[in-house]
Amino acid sequence: MTVFSGAGISAESGVPTFRDVETGLWAEVDPYEISSADGWRSHPDRVWAWYLWRHHMMGAVAPNNAHRAVAAWEDYADVHVVTQNVDNLHERAGSKQVYHVHGSLFEFHCDRCGAAYLGEVPAMPEPVESVDPPRCVCGGLIRPNVVWFGEALPDRAWQQSVDAVINADVVVVVGTSSVVYPAAGLPELAVASGTPVIEVNPEPTPLTSTATVSLREKAGAALPGLLQRLPALIG
Ligand code: OAD
Repeated sequence: MTVFSGAGISAESGVPTFRDVETGLWAEVDPYEISSADGWRSHPDRVWAWYLWRHHMMGAVAPNNAHRAVAAWEDYADVHVVTQNVDNLHERAGSKQVYHVHGSLFEFHCDRCGAAYLGEVPAMPEPVESVDPPRCVCGGLIRPNVVWFGEALPDRAWQQSVDAVINADVVVVVGTSSVVYPAAGLPELAVASGTPVIEVNPEPTPLTSTATVSLREKAGAALPGLLQRLPALIG
């Protein structure tokens, strides 16, 4: 089984999604400025402050029933998790094979020499507008290992994700708006290969019309019983 997850799977843990109109992170900041390579070049202090806050928030919340259900499926199947999320909630729930196509907010590196940063990052329980990022010994700035608009996806995670989708007997797509490419192309790859695709999302998305089954349910409600429902859903 391959699970493809987006921000919606972490919503019930208390992490705001990107595009949900009223609660989305993007209602308050311009995502293309704060989550872009250009934004980092022009205002690294603002981008760093923003990610410190998200880092703190994601560290403070716990996996929910959906993450736990996905991890529990490993008792019955070879489960691969492809996630667009930069949190570590799948791993904390116990999933073993997790591929982060948009990187991780729990790793940092120098934006000049690429060296991993192993120092502490400050806790930020409330967002502030500007914090200077730490400097590397080479003089570069320390940044999170996340993929920003204008950047390539990590090669290894991408290849593992493509393999996981190509080799899956079923792909479960959970909590993603399916609009950000190339990640959104992964479920399309499964559809094109004739692999059953089950979408779980309270709202319809561009994937809905081509998915084998689209469940208008929240992840925390749908995933715990999904394995038992599979025969009825996909035969
Ligand atoms: P979005 O915020 O775009 O979409 C979240 C989706 O989750 C929406 O379709 C919601 O309907 C759905 N949703 C909300 N609550 C849910 C719940 N309880 N159960 C199931 N679904 C729920 O987030 P993503 O699709 O993950 O990339 O966004 C994709 C990428 O856009 C992100 O990884 C990020 C952003 O650009 C980068 O930062 C590179």
